[in-house]
Amino acid sequence: MDMAVLASGYGSNLQAIIDAVERGEIKGRIKTVISDVKDAYALERARHHNIEAIYINPRDYPGRKAFDEAIAALLEERGIDLVILAGYMRLVSPVIIDKYRGKIMNIHPSLLPAFPGLEGVKQALDYGVKVSGCTVHFVDEGLDTGPIILQEAVPVYDDDTVESLHERIHQAEHRLYPQAIRLFMEGKLRIEGRRCFRDEN
Ligand code: GAR
Repeated sequence: MDMAVLASGYGSNLQAIIDAVERGEIKGRIKTVISDVKDAYALERARHHNIEAIYINPRDYPGRKAFDEAIAALLEERGIDLVILAGYMRLVSPVIIDKYRGKIMNIHPSLLPAFPGLEGVKQALDYGVKVSGCTVHFVDEGLDTGPIILQEAVPVYDDDTVESLHERIHQAEHRLYPQAIRLFMEGKLRIEGRRCFRDEN
């Protein structure tokens, strides 16, 4: 199966997925990495591993729909089976979601439904929770609302900063995202309404 990764930033989750593919843990290949940020380090990581790296400038399009139509066209041209959002800091519009329902995943740095949207780590710290974590979920039209695939809890310590907590959450993300992708590739994920079940077949 062919994957596309959409990333806006540093790309450490992309790297964890690349590593899992190279170790043979994920039976699929990353066909392309697409970014809305020209100098996103994620693009550099892709090039380093001989993966197609595409920058697409949102300013070249009149609005979100037209921008997402261009991305959908790229995905379709490449015959993508699974779309992976990895630190992609844009809302994805129905133009993409309708075509890839149940085939588009996101990772979020909190235990959803707590602290969706931007700055999930800061929101959790400011709220004062003792446990946060990360969530891999399928993407629907809402903001971080799609069926949850996997979650991992991470403790919050009294002396945590946003950076130290995010670092601990990142470590969990790097375990969780490849695992969710592996389950998808092996056909072990089943969605029923809001719930996603793991089939051992
Ligand atoms: C990750 O922690 C991911 O959960 C978060 O951005 C970070 C990207 O890190 N995503 C969101 O906040 C989405 N709302 P990375 O670029 O090193 O993979």
